[in-house]
Amino acid sequence: MGFYSTYVLPRLTHLAMRSQTLRPERARWVPRATGVVLEVGVGSGLNIPMYGSGVRKLYALDPSERLLQMARRRAARAGFPVEFLCRPAEAVPLGEASVDYVVTTWTLCTIPDPVAALGEMHRVLRPEGRLIFVEHGRAPDPAVVGWQDRLTPLWRRVSGGCHLNRSIDRLLQTGRFEALEMHRGYLGRPRVGAYLYRGMARPATGGPVQDTNPEVEKGVMRRAQS
Ligand SMILES: C[S@@+](CC[C@H](N)C(=O)[O-])C[C@H]1O[C@@H](n2cnc3c(N)ncnc32)[C@H](O)[C@@H]1O
Repeated sequence: MGFYSTYVLPRLTHLAMRSQTLRPERARWVPRATGVVLEVGVGSGLNIPMYGSGVRKLYALDPSERLLQMARRRAARAGFPVEFLCRPAEAVPLGEASVDYVVTTWTLCTIPDPVAALGEMHRVLRPEGRLIFVEHGRAPDPAVVGWQDRLTPLWRRVSGGCHLNRSIDRLLQTGRFEALEMHRGYLGRPRVGAYLYRGMARPATGGPVQDTNPEVEKGVMRRAQS
């Protein structure tokens, strides 16, 4: 890890994510989590003050020790215990069916293997548990998608791995989640990074979901990773 990713990127991430434009979405979705909650990609902990009194315990997972240091300051004021897990979402150190809610905000774009991460979220959620997501991703407009595909290879290098063009709905489906609520639309600008998918999903039962159009998704991933 170089100086940029260790010291500069966490600070830039925090500054970008504390944007007032994003705050209403946090305030709308995060308080719906109750019981034992796992937040995946907790970052600098901007969601921590949004959780309500129904939270019994929060597991705050992120692979960045620097961001977790910032999150610890916010956790000190929380009215529930917070346990920090400095680990990637592809390997969640929690037991099967051990959490009531998983929360992820602006994180599925960055996780290197989002399908494996969703598999872990599925594993740790109770069958009646819920996934709350607020994510940016692939836009419906061809002109915007064109720029998302063109910019992602460069953008992911400077942003710590963020992909502008991931189809969040398809990822959820491939990761065996069934959306119960899904709200889509642009929030702010620039539009390449502003198309949001937010809502709630439940873990689907049964085997892995076959992607109905795998070439599209693979093409997206290939271009994004080139
Ligand atoms: C754009 S930030 C969002 C932070 C936070 N969720 C928020 O809403 O402010 C993306 C986060 O994903 C985290 N991340 C990157 N790779 C990850 C992985 N493999 N598993 C879990 N989180 C990861 C980063 O460390 C960073 O905190």
